[in-house]
Amino acid sequence: MSQEEYDFGMVGLGVMGRNFLLNVADHGYAVAGMDQSAEKAKALEVEAGDKKAKGTTSTEEFVASLKKPRKIMLLVPAGKVVDIVINSLLPHLDQGDLIIDGGNSFFPDTDRRSVELEEKGIRFLGVGVSGGAEGARRGPSIMPGGNKSAYEVVAPILEDVSAKVNGEPCVAFMGNGSAGHYVKMVHNGIEYAIMQLLAESYDLLKNVGGLSNQQLGDTFTAWNKAELESFLVEITAEIFYQKDDLTEGDLIDAILDKAKQKGTGKWTSQNAMDNGIPVPTIDAAVTMRGMSSLKAERVSASEILSAHTNGSSVDAAAFAEDMKKALLFATIISYAQGLSLLKEVSDEKNYELDPEAIARIWRGGCIIRASLLEDIRKAFVAEPDIKNLMASPVFASSLSELQASCRTVVKHAIDAGIPVLALSSALSYFDAYRRDRLPLNLTQAQRDNFGSHTYERTDRAGVFHTEWGS
Ligand code: 6PG
Repeated sequence: MSQEEYDFGMVGLGVMGRNFLLNVADHGYAVAGMDQSAEKAKALEVEAGDKKAKGTTSTEEFVASLKKPRKIMLLVPAGKVVDIVINSLLPHLDQGDLIIDGGNSFFPDTDRRSVELEEKGIRFLGVGVSGGAEGARRGPSIMPGGNKSAYEVVAPILEDVSAKVNGEPCVAFMGNGSAGHYVKMVHNGIEYAIMQLLAESYDLLKNVGGLSNQQLGDTFTAWNKAELESFLVEITAEIFYQKDDLTEGDLIDAILDKAKQKGTGKWTSQNAMDNGIPVPTIDAAVTMRGMSSLKAERVSASEILSAHTNGSSVDAAAFAEDMKKALLFATIISYAQGLSLLKEVSDEKNYELDPEAIARIWRGGCIIRASLLEDIRKAFVAEPDIKNLMASPVFASSLSELQASCRTVVKHAIDAGIPVLALSSALSYFDAYRRDRLPLNLTQAQRDNFGSHTYERTDRAGVFHTEWGS
């Protein structure tokens, strides 16, 4: 590799890193990649064809090949590997060089790394990248956070490689410190919620509506042509049509009902709890991943516990129509929960997040891309300071109208003994938010009764304690 010839470097040439780098090369930049595996380094050069791309296993050679200030992105597994890679690069870097962590790093790690690297004169960005392998190759949604001037060093490249919607790039500076990784974490929390809502919709359409896999594919295909149009609905339809290579049946029926997780959904729930912000549909999705992994226990319990169901037959077409509306209702509410968390934590962490920009860059490239995000964007244009999307004039009346279908579907689920933790949590979140009085006056009374924790009153200011029962 000759000296200072390459515009952009990547450490980690797994499928995400290699695809992202090939995407950069497609836009006319000379790219260099480094990986411990010589095979992966070679694969980069082969796949790049006649574009200017070089792969190596040597840190020294890699760093020396980059133009200054060097722009080095890491797409390596989140956690200690990121620190190991940064430490291996540091002795070779110069002041002003830029490291971009493009993995799903836990945001407190990003805050720590920002401070450590700034002290050493190295610029650092924590960047959320969404869209999977295909997104990385053809245009992901990119959520950069850190120092604004560091972002400007690399902004033209990120704008070139990102997905475009109506010609607008799906990348925007999110805010300082760990803002980019925080936004990506919440993106994944919303992703978990919508995936769980889709799983529940599948369960209900199949077991209450009686739909076959072919009909499920047709139903999700039709839904993907209207308000529910989104990447996740699109791939859901595709999945139901997939035949199994190993048996005569459909692949979906051969897949074990245990879903794994890498942690970003759980972090969203944990952080929301830490900040006192309710995100019950995201919590439900994380919980259901846990329930799914209790496979052996569930199989045993299925022999012992029965539902005593009183499910009645339904008109399949009418039920599917209610299901569609219920899914739309709960999907809007999942976005509302995630965005309310972003709003609250933005103030707490001084990220200065712009919800309109977030909705704008989520419209394309990322896993939760959906036509709904254009309406969400408009809601924030109309009212930038709105606390919760549910109260926006863009959504309030449609949610009021859609709620009836969600109630119908949840009632059917309860009657049939089908778990709908996500759908019912979205409905209860809506019901709790729209009620001016909740029964937690009783909770306050109990706390004062057993622990003299005091309470406030509805009719006068101040803090009160009662000698209960006296
Ligand atoms: C994305 C995805 C991605 C995530 C996978 C798997 O935006 O491209 O969110 O970052 O790693 O979806 O996540 P889980 O293993 O936690 O389901």
